[in-house]
This record gives sequence, structure tokens and C-alpha cells, in this order.
Amino acid sequence: QIVYVNGDYVAAEDAKVSVFDRGFLMADAVYEVTSVIGGKLVDFDGHATRLQRSMSELEMVSPVTMEDLLEIHRQLVARNDLDEGGIYLQITRGAPDSRDFVWPDPDEVKCGIVLFTFEKALVDSKVMDDGIKVISMDDIRWGRRDIKTTQLLYPSFAKMQAKKAGAADAWLVEDGFVTEGTANNAYIVKDGTIITRQLGNDILHGITRAAILRFAKEAQMQVEERPFTIEEAQAADEAFVTSATGFAQPVIDIDGATIGTGKPGSISKRLREIYTEEMT
Ligand code: PDD
Repeated sequence: QIVYVNGDYVAAEDAKVSVFDRGFLMADAVYEVTSVIGGKLVDFDGHATRLQRSMSELEMVSPVTMEDLLEIHRQLVARNDLDEGGIYLQITRGAPDSRDFVWPDPDEVKCGIVLFTFEKALVDSKVMDDGIKVISMDDIRWGRRDIKTTQLLYPSFAKMQAKKAGAADAWLVEDGFVTEGTANNAYIVKDGTIITRQLGNDILHGITRAAILRFAKEAQMQVEERPFTIEEAQAADEAFVTSATGFAQPVIDIDGATIGTGKPGSISKRLREIYTEEMT
């Protein structure tokens, strides 16, 4: 496959990054994952806007313009003949000539940039028929989860714990309330109302979340943005998660408690249908 690294399109096996790259040494990097359906980018503008915000919160200077970035995404889709899947993009604070906790001067050290594509079936997915099980875990991530950084050790650890417990994912809990999933936003449905945590520094502002809530409101569904507990979720009629590469996925079991009938709920299904129709 062809990847993009610091200005060049090269075969993945020929791509090189420095051992001093701060993304590699310190997770001093931000990222985005944009899905591709039928060779088209889904909500590129949403991802580009969030990327710019992540960079500005961390005082990173983008090595490319957003127009360049769109062109690179399109080039990679074309060069890899990608029909359905996604594009991973990472911007790091670059590679100074030594390891130092202090950020390098952006005039001297330019940010690094890497992109690659992956194939994944997004529209026809078996999880839709079955739903997934989740377990709860303490949310011990740092307090700026609204910035999409590559500090993914804890989410990855949490997902491994879920796997060991026979579940597919973990819902993270802080001060008694669910924040989000390891790589998705979390929702419950009770008496027809869709409930999801309000935006803040404690969760990622999902691009799929924004679209799903917009479509839900357009379809006259009730939406409440507020925190909820695991106990409230276990007693809900439905639960689901959203992400760029998962759309809306039903959750049918939380810490061993069956949600609703144990089958994907009708609102979760309907939202996935609307999202797929609108985005493809
Ligand atoms: N994850 N919350 C977290 C912690 C995430 O990592 C993600 C995305 C989301 C959903 O955001 P969006 O709808 O913009 O994809 C919420 C990506 C897909 C990943 O890490 O692969």
C-alpha cells in the first residue's frame, strides 16, 4: 500500500520516521480517522476542523494547509484504490535532535505528518445484527480528552480487559458517570429519549456524534445531553456507541446485564440507517 510521509507518497515498507519523533517518544501527536465509503470521504470538513482545534490547543503549527490535506486524502484513496474503509492521519510535533520535555521551537522543528489507508467493511457489519457487550472501567485518562491525541495506552489496555472478559469494548466511568467508550461516544435510550453525555473536556467531540444528534433531532427524536450512570444504562431500553469507523453500533450487554430485549433496539437501528443513507 502507498502511504504519505512528510511530503512523499511511498510504499509502506519504504516509509521512515525519525527515532526522535515526539509522536513516537512522547505521544506528542494528534490524529484523525476519516471513513471512506464508495471511494468518498465521509465528513472530511468535520475531521479537518477538529484536527485544527487539536493542534491549536497544543500550539502545533500544521505542516500542510487543509486544502493540501484534502488532496492528500484523495490521492491516497485513488492510489490505494480504496472503496470502503478509512484513512488514518497523524501529525506529530516533529523530530528535534534530542529528547527534551520542552517543546521545540516550531520555526526550527516542523511538525511531522503521516497518513495511511485501511480497508474495512463499514456499511454491512455483523455487529448490527448481534450488538456488542461492554464492561465498565475507571476512566483514568488525562483531563483533555477533547484533544484527539495518540495517548492511547489506557484505551488499548481497557479494550484488552474487555476482550479478556468476553466483551468487545469498555465504557469508561468517572465520578460515577459514563464518559465514553475506548474509541467511541456512548448513548442510552429510555422511553424514546436518546441520552448522551454533554460536550466538555472530558470526552472527545465525536464527528459521528454531531451528525447522529443532528439526524435524530431532524427525525423529531428527543435528545438529552447529560451524564448517566452504569446503573441507569443497565436499566435503559437501548444502548449504542458511535464512531467514524463504526457508525452507530448497538450495545446489548453492560457488565453482564442485558439491555432491553438483548437485541439491537429500534432507535439504534433507525439511526444507523439514517446515518448510512445520509452519508453514502
Ligand atoms: N476514535 N471517543 C473517543 C475516545 C474516540 O477515540 C473516538 C474516535 C470517538 C468517536 O469520534 P468520531 O465519531 O469522530 O470518530 C469518541 C477513532 C475512530 C479511533 O481512534 O480509531
